[in-house]
Amino acid sequence: MSFRSLATLSALAITAVNAANFRRVTCPDGNIASHAACCPFFSLRDDLQANLFQGQCGEDVHEVVRLTFHDAITFSEQLQREGQFAGGGADGSVLVFPTVEANFPANLGISDSIDNLVQFLKNHTDVSAADMVQFAGAVGLTNCPGAPQIQFLAGRPNATAPGPIGLIPEPQDNVTSILARFADGGGFTPDEVIALLSSHTIARADHVDPTLDAAPFDSTPFTFDTQIFLEVLLKGVGFPGADGANVGEVESPLPLTSGTDVGELRLQSDFALARDPRTACIWQGFVNEQEKMMAAFKAAMAKLAVVAQDVNSLVDCTDVLPPPLPPKAKPATFPATKTRADIQQACLASPFPNLATDPGAVETLIPHCQDGDMECATVQFTLSGEMEGDDS
Ligand code: HEM
Ligand SMILES: *[C@@H]1O[C@H](CO)[C@@H](O)[C@H](O)[C@H]1NC(C)=O
Ligand SMILES: *[C@@H]1O[C@H](CO)[C@@H](O)[C@H](O)[C@H]1NC(C)=O
Ligand SMILES: *[C@@H]1O[C@H](CO)[C@@H](O)[C@H](O)[C@H]1NC(C)=O
Repeated sequence: MSFRSLATLSALAITAVNAANFRRVTCPDGNIASHAACCPFFSLRDDLQANLFQGQCGEDVHEVVRLTFHDAITFSEQLQREGQFAGGGADGSVLVFPTVEANFPANLGISDSIDNLVQFLKNHTDVSAADMVQFAGAVGLTNCPGAPQIQFLAGRPNATAPGPIGLIPEPQDNVTSILARFADGGGFTPDEVIALLSSHTIARADHVDPTLDAAPFDSTPFTFDTQIFLEVLLKGVGFPGADGANVGEVESPLPLTSGTDVGELRLQSDFALARDPRTACIWQGFVNEQEKMMAAFKAAMAKLAVVAQDVNSLVDCTDVLPPPLPPKAKPATFPATKTRADIQQACLASPFPNLATDPGAVETLIPHCQDGDMECATVQFTLSGEMEGDDS
């Protein structure tokens, strides 16, 4: 499906849902909502912002956004056709069975976000686990400059069983199996897969290279910009860790690591999707196209958030979300020392955009913390409810 028809379809869907809930209600806490089902989310929003995300686009936000995907994609139309248990999609199974899916190999690192959200389920008992996951992701994204406002529909029931193992894509998977998995996991088109991967603009890996903490996928991991689409197309020159290639890792263009400022890490899957004939043009088409990326990500996230759910039983509570932060007023740029000559262009149907290069004679480090802080705060609950400081 083309980008344009995708955007039109999702705009229609949003209008239809809004029209159904135009009446407004006053919630017990005094907030005005479009529907009584939205009332519990005001206090949850404020609680998450104050006590988990701390108003930042940091580690806790990144982890929860990844969780929205890992919860939702554990569904399979093929298993369903075969009469087997197919998973519940965006059903909160990761939180309801916090020690099952967390141990799947593809879920390395996911338990921090599970432990954190399980604590919030305890004092927001009128929110289902499934809504908790998707709502937390949507709230968290509003702290990331340039992220679109995600549609939030409320009313998913709690999961009744953990999702099946083996349904979450891994970075060592080839493009054919990744695209097939997304198609089977919720009818995602190749274009929608790339739109969803915009999320890797706010991502850092802790487990691909186990010797590294928070290895960023682009040079701006606290900003929802299009640098990920540009930088994955640059020629790789090395690895951020001293141990060389790990499973699912390929050479990155900005591997320079110094102390906690870890160099860029590139996933083999991102590398391959950026260069495969099936996805190269949609990938390149997001370079320096902030608004286009935002619209496509918003539409694809709306679809992800309701995988295997009954959309007609859900209520649009998008208006509970904080307003999103606008994009940074900076176009995409080649990182210092890189130019058009370093681009491995795989989409030949359209010219590569003309971009400036950041100043500097040497490769610059990617700061470990937002705004150059020396200590970046993250919140860490454990399943027993004990709280720890953690700066990873
Ligand atoms: C081809 C599909 C995908 C693969 C193979 C993949 C793989 C990965 C891997 C290996 C990591 C690093 C985890 C770690 O070592 O800590 C990661 C991080 C992340 N992924 Fe993906 N991913 C895919 C799609 C997605 C999608 C669809 C989303 C969301 C819509 C997403 C959101 C994220 C986020 C936000 C992080 C950063 C987590 C953090 O910084 O703590 N990914 N992904
Ligand atoms: C869903 O399950 C969680 C625990 O896993 C519980 O705290 C919550 O009250 C349940 N919510 C609903 C709406 O059933
Ligand atoms: C809810 O629980 C979280 C995690 O335990 C805590 O940080 C937060 O302060 C609690 N919120 C309220 C309103 O009690
Ligand atoms: C892709 O991976 C699948 C699953 O491991 C494998 O069966 C298939 O042969 C691979 N395809 C290619 C083109 O490498």
